[in-house]
Amino acid sequence: MTTRTVALLSALLLANCVVPVAAQAAEQPVLAPATQAPERIILNLTADTAHEMAVTWRSAPGLAGKVQYAKATPGPDFVRSPMMLDATTDDATLAVQEDPAFRAAYHSAVLTGLEPATVYAYRVGDGTRWSEWFQFRTASERPEPFRFIYLGDMQNDVLSQASRTLRMALRMAGDSAFVIHAGDLINRHSSDREWGEWFAAGGFLYAQTPQMPTPGNHEYGRDTAARAGSSVTGQWRRQFTLPQNGPDGVPEASETHWYTDYQGLRLISIDSPQLDRNEAARGATIAWLEGILANNPNRWTVIFLHFPMFSSDPGRDNPKVRDALKPLVDKYDVDLVLQGHDHGYARGAIGPDGPVADDAGATYVVSVAGPKMYEVADLPWARKSAERTQAFQIIDVEGDRLAYKAYTASGEPLDAVTLTKP
Ligand SMILES: [Fe+2]
Repeated sequence: MTTRTVALLSALLLANCVVPVAAQAAEQPVLAPATQAPERIILNLTADTAHEMAVTWRSAPGLAGKVQYAKATPGPDFVRSPMMLDATTDDATLAVQEDPAFRAAYHSAVLTGLEPATVYAYRVGDGTRWSEWFQFRTASERPEPFRFIYLGDMQNDVLSQASRTLRMALRMAGDSAFVIHAGDLINRHSSDREWGEWFAAGGFLYAQTPQMPTPGNHEYGRDTAARAGSSVTGQWRRQFTLPQNGPDGVPEASETHWYTDYQGLRLISIDSPQLDRNEAARGATIAWLEGILANNPNRWTVIFLHFPMFSSDPGRDNPKVRDALKPLVDKYDVDLVLQGHDHGYARGAIGPDGPVADDAGATYVVSVAGPKMYEVADLPWARKSAERTQAFQIIDVEGDRLAYKAYTASGEPLDAVTLTKP
């Protein structure tokens, strides 16, 4: 220990300071290579939730990708004659932050022709090495009660501290149909180590409950900030298989702007970094959104995006996103606008002329799942706000009622509102 270090430590002790954990020298973990056994297995909903399911995973380079699947049976009989499907495999070098020559085989497959409201078992592998059998349930073709989970940014200390929020959510609502992530799943878009933390946080839960993300600014990073022609991190389309039904003529927003219908609810992902910064595509995006809001057979409509249309932090504002979306949210009676980015909690209803009573306008929420915290202002629009609170949300959709409930990461009730729509 040098004289200078001793002097510094003495000064800290004298000041009765505790050195924050984050300030302690952290050892940089080594990048884990992709494994022979399938890993990072994840389900995503497609645009046909009653008849399809997408599965994506990765393995060591050079391995094939295959899926076996069958209707689940109460006993082990389903394994006798499963259906087999070859996955699409992307086995090229993908520069990641930790290694410019990183290589892994990313496999994806869409199971089609499935029966509605049916439990299927599946496993993935290369034909020799297989995962365990996982199970999922397809959606009903009709409106039926269901629930889903909404999480704000996990982003920082994803495995160490954000995971508890996700895991508490799935402990309390393990029967959720899917989980939506409102962007900034990780902090550095090209860090394979951080994506590895994100997959470890969910583990096998991602392989049985579809995960539905929208990108945040950290899925772009500063060097690839969304603008005309630039696209989300290369990890996005390799690791997820999301609906490809975004606006025509905006290829950079494929699998980032998307929508799907689930048992009477239309779920729409808006790639808000693109909407904010890609001025050339903004018109096409607004026209696309108006089309899917105007021709919407569902009773309930949820938009989710990263940049809030109404912020919880007094120093943050996204006028371009708000100006683009707010008229359509009002015109087509969107029920919920679920957002991230501001690292605080706020919820309130806002109509065409400003804040209104619950149920008299769209309900806007900002929430954060991870441990990074920003100040929350006194907000004229919020009926409820909270600072320094990691939260998750469980949303129950049942006929003409939508029950929204927020909980803290430690499982305490934080907020609730019920919307009705005869
Ligand atoms: Fe963000």
